[in-house]
Amino acid sequence: MDVYTAIRTRRDMETFSDECPPQDVVARIVEAATWAPNHRLTEPWRFYVVAGDRREALADVIASALAESGEAEGAQRSVRAKLMRAPLTIFVSQAVTDDAARSEERAIEDYAACVAAIQNLLLAAHEEGLIAHYSTGAMIGYPQTRNALGLGPDDRIVAMLNLGYRHADAPSKEGRRNAPIVTWDWPSGA
Ligand SMILES: Cc1cc2nc3c(=O)[nH]c(=O)nc-3n(C[C@H](O)[C@H](O)[C@H](O)COP(=O)(O)O)c2cc1C
Repeated sequence: MDVYTAIRTRRDMETFSDECPPQDVVARIVEAATWAPNHRLTEPWRFYVVAGDRREALADVIASALAESGEAEGAQRSVRAKLMRAPLTIFVSQAVTDDAARSEERAIEDYAACVAAIQNLLLAAHEEGLIAHYSTGAMIGYPQTRNALGLGPDDRIVAMLNLGYRHADAPSKEGRRNAPIVTWDWPSGA
């Protein structure tokens, strides 16, 4: 698939079949993510891949930590549902790799680099015939999720990506985009 086709035909989808992609395919997708641009070559992205019955184990750890902190049962149920909706989930986090990474400027640059890595990952998954669902929301912000993944207190989970194969009954999703909003300042005749 050429890059323009990949960009235009990738769609966020969340109805997965039960089949888990092979580990070597997942490794290839994650490796592709790491070719993203990143200022000062900080490579701030970290990936936590959870598959198969390990999803249940991770959901148990997060849910019981949430229960201990008095979080409502709905939050615990939601964590479990989000992890179980696909055969495979990749959490992408932004690591604080040195003291300079605590500055606001570096934090923004490192966050932007992580998002660029996520787009690479999504396009690579599309090339491999997988679908992906991008999610942010409450779960990635819980300290209990961060702790369960073994992240440092200053590390930030940027996204939770569910991956797998498209379920036969998955609704199709129309591509829709407005025309680009561009101000052209282009020499005449060029
Ligand atoms: C930063 C970011 C956060 C997102 N978070 C969620 C989310 O929490 N839940 C969700 O259903 N979709 C989420 N999405 C997916 C978007 O809803 C999706 O990309 C959008 O509908 C456009 O569809 P497309 O990706 O197929 O072009 C997120 C996307 C981005 C870029």
